[in-house]
Amino acid sequence: MKRETVIVLDFGGQYNQLVARRVRECKVYCEIYSYKTPLKKIKALAPRGIILTGGPSSCYLDDSPSYTAELFELGIPILGLCYGAQLMHHLLGGQVTQAKVREYGKTEVTLNTDSPLFQNVSPQTICWMSHFDYIAEPAPGFQVTAHTADCPTAAAENRQKKLYTIQFHPEVLHTPEGTKMISNFLYNVCGCAGHWKIESFVEDSIQAIRQKVGTGKVLCALSGGVDSSVAAVLLSKAVQNQLTCVFVDHGLLRKNEGDEVEHVFGPEGPYQLNFIRVNAQKQFYEKLEGIEEPERKRKIIGEEFIRVFEQQAKKIGAVDFLVQGTIYPDVVESGLGGESAVIKSHHNVGGLPDCVDFKEIIEPLRDLFKDEVRKAGLELGIPESLVYRQPFPGPGLGIRIIGEITEDKVKMVQEADAIYREEIARAGLSKTIGQYFAALTNMKSVGVMGDERTYDYAIALRAVNTIDFMTAEAAEIPWDVLQKVSSRIVNEVDHVNRVMYDITGKPPGTIEFE
Ligand code: XMP
Repeated sequence: MKRETVIVLDFGGQYNQLVARRVRECKVYCEIYSYKTPLKKIKALAPRGIILTGGPSSCYLDDSPSYTAELFELGIPILGLCYGAQLMHHLLGGQVTQAKVREYGKTEVTLNTDSPLFQNVSPQTICWMSHFDYIAEPAPGFQVTAHTADCPTAAAENRQKKLYTIQFHPEVLHTPEGTKMISNFLYNVCGCAGHWKIESFVEDSIQAIRQKVGTGKVLCALSGGVDSSVAAVLLSKAVQNQLTCVFVDHGLLRKNEGDEVEHVFGPEGPYQLNFIRVNAQKQFYEKLEGIEEPERKRKIIGEEFIRVFEQQAKKIGAVDFLVQGTIYPDVVESGLGGESAVIKSHHNVGGLPDCVDFKEIIEPLRDLFKDEVRKAGLELGIPESLVYRQPFPGPGLGIRIIGEITEDKVKMVQEADAIYREEIARAGLSKTIGQYFAALTNMKSVGVMGDERTYDYAIALRAVNTIDFMTAEAAEIPWDVLQKVSSRIVNEVDHVNRVMYDITGKPPGTIEFE
C-alpha cells in the first residue's frame, strides 16, 4: 500500500521543516519539495494534500518563486501559508500589495469557526504574523474566514475547490492553536487516515531493509551518537549477524563514553551485533602531539579516523552495504529536499565511503526528523541516556581543548565535563538547555588552594539555547548551580584552579569552544 503522504512545497520560508514536523506530529507522513519541482512529479506522488510554505519574496514581482496555476486544478486539497497564501490568491486573480506597516509578532485574530480549518479553535485566538505584503482582495470564489485589526484577509477558503489560505504561521509555537488548524486541514479537508506512527516506521523499515539487503553483508561505523546507534540497531533487528559495527575509540570521547557504548552494543549488551571496538587512543594522541591549530586538529582526527576504519574494513573484506546515519534535515539542507538549502558537509562521515569496498549506501533514517529518530531509538529499546545524548562533534574533545592536546588535558576536560553534566542533571535542567559542555582553555593563572599557591588551568563552561544550531544564545544557568559546578571542578579536578562561564552568543561566537 502506498504511504499516505502530504507534500510541503517550499518557497524558501524559514519554517519549512517546522511545517513538515507539525504534519508528522499529526500522524501524517510528510515530505518537503522545492517549488521548482515539476507538476508532473507532484501528480505522480499523488499526495493527499499540499501545503505551500512562506517565503521572503513578494509574489507579484517577476522573478519571485511561483508555480503554475494548474496546481489548483488537480482537485488535491491545498493550504497556502503566508507567502503561499498570497501566491495562491495572486495566481487565481486576487490582489496582493504591500501593506502600510509590517505586521509582525503575536496578534489577536478573529476566526469563523464554521470553517473546516477552524473547527474546535477558539473564535478569538493568538497567531504569529510576519508579513509586509497582504491580500488586499481575495481571489474570486474565496470567502474570508479570519481577520486581524490590520489584516482583512488573515484566512480565506474556496471550500468547493478545497483551497485554503492562512496569512499567519500556524506551524510556530507562538500560534498556540496552530497545530489544531494543521490537523483540521489534514483530517477535515484532506481526509487523511493518520497512519504515520514511529512504531509502524520501525516495523516497515525492518521489512524493507530485509528485502533490500537479502543475504548481503553490511558494515556500519558506530559513533555512539543517536543517529548511528539507531541505524545500527534497526539494521541488526533486520539482518542480525550480517551486520558488523565498528566503533573507533579515538580517546577524545567524554568520560566513560567508550565503555558505555561497548556496554550497550558489545557482546554483553542486549543486541546481537558483531561489534568491534578499536582502541586507537594512543595512535590519535601521537598524531596530535604538538598540534595547536584547531583546523589542523580536526583534519588530523578525521584522517586518522578514516585510516583506522580502513584497516578494519580491510580485515572484514568486501561488503555489500555501508550504513550511514543521514537524517531528513541533512537531506533537506544539502539541497535535495526543500528550497532553503544550507549546504552542509557531513563532517563525520566524509571520506568513509572511499575507504570501504562496498556496493551501495544504506540510509535507514533518511526520512526522519531528529525527534523521530529519538522515538525510534526508544521504540527499539535503546537506553534514554543514549537516545537523549547531546550533540557531540565527531572530533570530540579534540576541539574542546585549546592548544596542544595531551592525555592529561583530555582527563581534565573529561572530569570537569562529567561534573558539569551531573550537576545540570541534578538541577533538573538537562532537557531544557540546548547544548552544554566544559572546555579546557590554554590559560594558566595563579590561585591559592589551602595555603599553597597554584599555577593551573582554567575551565570554560558553555551552555546555549538554540533552535537550529546556526544561531544560539547563552543559557541563563542559575547562579547557585554555576557556583556548585565551579567549586566541585576546582576541588575535584587536578590542575584546574579557575572556572569561567562563556556568555557569548552565536554569532559572534560558535557553539563549540575551539
Ligand atoms: P558550531 O561550533 O559550528 O557548532 O557553532 C554547531 C553544532 O555543530 C556541532 N559540531 C559538530 N558536529 N561534527 C559534528 O557532528 C563536527 O565536526 C562538529 N563541529 C561542531 C556542535 O557541537 C554544535 O552542536
